[in-house]
Amino acid sequence: MSSNERVIIFDTTLRDGEQSPGASMTRDEKLRIAKALERMRVDVIEAGFAIASPGDFESVKAVADAVKDSTVCSLARALDADIERAAEALAGANSGRIHTFIATSPIHMEYKLRMQPDQVVEQAVRAVKKARNLCADVEFSCEDAGRSEIDFLCRIVEAAIDAGARTINIPDTVGYAIPHEYAELIRQLIERVPNSDKAVFSVHCHNDLGLAVANSLAAVVAGARQVECTINGLGERAGNAALEEIVMAIKTREDLLNVHTNVDSTQILSTSRMVSGITGFPVQPNKAIVGANAFAHESGIHQDGVLKHRETYEIMSAESVGWNANRMVLGKHSGRNAFRSRLLELGIEFATETELNAVFARFKELADKKHEIFDEDLQSLVSDTFNQDVPEFYKLVSLEVSSKTGEIPSAEVVLLVDGEEIRSQEQGSGPVDAAFKAVEKVAQSGTTLQLYSVNAITEGTDSQGEVTVRLERASRIVNGNGADTDIVVASVKAYLNALNLMHVGAAKAHPQVDGI
Ligand code: KIV
Ligand code: ZN
Repeated sequence: MSSNERVIIFDTTLRDGEQSPGASMTRDEKLRIAKALERMRVDVIEAGFAIASPGDFESVKAVADAVKDSTVCSLARALDADIERAAEALAGANSGRIHTFIATSPIHMEYKLRMQPDQVVEQAVRAVKKARNLCADVEFSCEDAGRSEIDFLCRIVEAAIDAGARTINIPDTVGYAIPHEYAELIRQLIERVPNSDKAVFSVHCHNDLGLAVANSLAAVVAGARQVECTINGLGERAGNAALEEIVMAIKTREDLLNVHTNVDSTQILSTSRMVSGITGFPVQPNKAIVGANAFAHESGIHQDGVLKHRETYEIMSAESVGWNANRMVLGKHSGRNAFRSRLLELGIEFATETELNAVFARFKELADKKHEIFDEDLQSLVSDTFNQDVPEFYKLVSLEVSSKTGEIPSAEVVLLVDGEEIRSQEQGSGPVDAAFKAVEKVAQSGTTLQLYSVNAITEGTDSQGEVTVRLERASRIVNGNGADTDIVVASVKAYLNALNLMHVGAAKAHPQVDGI
């Protein structure tokens, strides 16, 4: 047992993380991530921005209804309608929180809000009071606090605490701060605000200068006791502070920081993979904690040292973040029980037996093609099966590609489009290019391809290829995913998934663009 203080881990993957261009998630995907975060013992899960769209409302509500052990939070601008919608979505939560915010920097107040500082304080107080009437747990954020004037911050923070906010968040919204400067801001606020002892001070750092984690940790040293972060550092622009880095820095350097978190770090890797699979944002190999190379020792000297005594080159164990933990390999003879229990260990649960059966059937198909099925295969299989939740306006019936040295590659696809079978043939610079052109000849989607990425899910040439296709049309961006042992098939699946997402898409508001 440690006597040091706890840092509350507030995960905003489902809200700020979803603000990454192309990272939008369906309600069921959010629910799966929320359950994994709960298993990981994250304290607060920001499930979305309830007023943004009917889909966002449904997602916050579904997470609030399903999660029992973590607090579930909804974002709301400092507006009555936002706060009421957040409270409505959180009605079923065991422990709910309304997170309301207003911008406090001179540049945001003048140009975005077009409000005087006095009006901003008044609106913040009204919003916090309104939220407190609907929910016992209220967080107030000073948007763009990193570029706000300290005297004004002291004034608005004191007023928000008086009005009933129990968490005060000081975001570095544009990722402008430098660690010692940001730490000083937090230290001064805690010192100067007369009622600061009645609230938990929280930080929320963006990574525009690559300093989000460093700034958050500096703020913890200065007295912040909540850190807002996301899995894999997902988030608006360059992203937010990465949860896995915050948690492991606190755990590894508890001796220096003298704080701890409640998070079960062994759940980190599987959750990271789930988020990457769902959003289609791959994790770079050299990413701290969850990158494929994070614990790989390539050089002979390092390998020798680690074999003799692990701590020579490793500051934390791979197992402590979920690498190699019970890495059971499944094959075509594995039964449903082994399959189900491995998925449970990976944090994947199904609401119904029908869902389990659908994934199990696809597992058997894959096991016929691939000798050993690893955890990564299972995660991708589940993501791929759930991709089918998106109504399939375009469905792949068959694909034939021809690729031979000295000849122009060509592809023939047969698609089911709104129930009608259509055949199309095209040539391209490679088989993938030809297949995409053949699909586009039918779909005429008017989209532009922004990203095409292929990752081998496991090692070996029999590995499945996991493909992400990002399409854009009229400022709307979607990410489609597909996996298969044949990468051209995986590519077409991903392309069609993106087209289907584009087809169903509904508009939603952005909390920080649609000003008050
Ligand atoms: O970056 C930011 O300021 C935010 C707030 C809404 C908390 O995301
Ligand atoms: Zn943010």
